[in-house]
Amino acid sequence: MARVRNATRFWKDPAAAEAARRVIVPNEAPVFTIEPRQIFGRAAPLEVEIGAGRGDFIIGRAAANPDRNFLAVERPGTIGRLLAVRCGRAGLENLRVAAMDARTLVSLMLPEGSVDTFHVYFPDPWPKSRQVKHRLFTPSFVRGLMRTLKPGGVVYVATDVAQWAAEMFERLEAAGFRQTAGQAPGATLTGFARKYLAQGKSVFSGGFEPVAREVPTVLTALRRSGILKP
Ligand SMILES: C[S@@+](CC[C@H](N)C(=O)[O-])C[C@H]1O[C@@H](n2cnc3c(N)ncnc32)[C@H](O)[C@@H]1O
Repeated sequence: MARVRNATRFWKDPAAAEAARRVIVPNEAPVFTIEPRQIFGRAAPLEVEIGAGRGDFIIGRAAANPDRNFLAVERPGTIGRLLAVRCGRAGLENLRVAAMDARTLVSLMLPEGSVDTFHVYFPDPWPKSRQVKHRLFTPSFVRGLMRTLKPGGVVYVATDVAQWAAEMFERLEAAGFRQTAGQAPGATLTGFARKYLAQGKSVFSGGFEPVAREVPTVLTALRRSGILKP
C-alpha cells in the first residue's frame, strides 16, 4: 500500500512527473514500433528487463554499464509510473522505460534481432490455478523473445517457485533455447529476489541462448528425401 501511495504522490509532484517524462518511451497509436537506436540516440548493445517492478535491478545495472542501453518494461499504471519516476530521477542517459504490456513489445514493437539480453525476474506471482491465465511466460511470449533476440543473445530468468522454473526452462528449450548459465545476474538483486532471499526462500534461475539451427536448403531436403543422390 505504501508503494501505491508513493506512486500517487510522486505523480502529483511536477518535478517527478517531469523526471518520468524524460525516460518514458512513446508506445501508443500511431506508434507501432520502438526503434532502440532512435530512443537512445545511439547504437549500443541493448538489455531489456521485463516486469522491472520498482527498477532496483535495472537502475543499478544501467549505472554500472554506461556503454550499454537499458529498457525497463512494466505494465502501465501505478507500478509503471513509480518505475518511470525512479528511472527518471536516476538521471542516466542509457535508461528508458516502456510502460506497456511486454507481450506486445516482444511480439510486435521491438525490431527482429534487436536485443542482446533479456532479464525476466519473478514475472508470475500468481499461485492459484485460476490465475494461470495471467501468466506472462507462455509459448507465444517465448517466441517473441526468440524473434527479438540477436544471434548470441541471452535470456535470463528467475523465479522462487520450483514448478514454474521447470515450466519456464522447458518452454525455453522447446522453443530452441539451451541453458548456458547456471545463475541469472538479477537472481539476487531485484526487489523480489532480496525479499525472497531474506525470507530464506530458494531462487531458481538460469541463462538461455538460442541453439543455432540448421536451416535445410532445398538441395539438402531433396537429398535427404532420396530424390537427389548425395
Ligand atoms: C513479482 S513482480 C517482480 C518485479 C521485479 N522483476 C522484481 O523481481 O523485483 C512481477 C512484475 O512483472 C510485471 N508484469 C507481469 N506481467 C507483465 C506484462 N505482461 N507486461 C509487463 N509487465 C508485467 C508486474 O506488473 C510486476 O511488476
